Amino acid sequence: MYYVNGRDLYKKHCQNCHGISGEGLENLVPPLTDTAFLKTNKYRLACFIKYGIEGDTIRVAGRTYDGKMPANEKIANIDIAQLIVYLTNSFGNSHGMYTAEQVAVDLEGCNKGR
Ligand code: HEC
Repeated sequence: MYYVNGRDLYKKHCQNCHGISGEGLENLVPPLTDTAFLKTNKYRLACFIKYGIEGDTIRVAGRTYDGKMPANEKIANIDIAQLIVYLTNSFGNSHGMYTAEQVAVDLEGCNKGR
């Protein structure tokens, strides 16, 4: 269920920028295929999705990005969890389960250490 719902949410909220296969968009939008990046930053993914990314450079798949990702402040924790399960188990990634409880924990830490 998480995976299937996550796929629908991805189509609705993310695919325009990150692409149907998570391929990104040239040097504007990073791909979601850098499995090492996603693994290392797993605890930050909920923050990225809920609050967006701005004023931060990010190094993904050997390239540096300095763009802006929009926030989704109204999104529910369960939807964030489903999105994370989808993207970390698609596009060549297979990182297993991720729960809404974990989202709540990760969101607590969003502005620390960034
Ligand atoms: C308007 C375009 C846009 C939309 C919509 C968007 N993103 Fe992003 N995303 C970006 C950009 C640009 C960056 C890189 C920001 C930077 O350069 O600091 C990024 C970075 C990321 C990253 C970290 C880097 C990477 O590629 O692994 C993740 C994960 C991510 N986005 C996931 C999502 C998810 C999930 C959604 C849907 C909820 C989403 N994005 C919606 C543009 C977008």
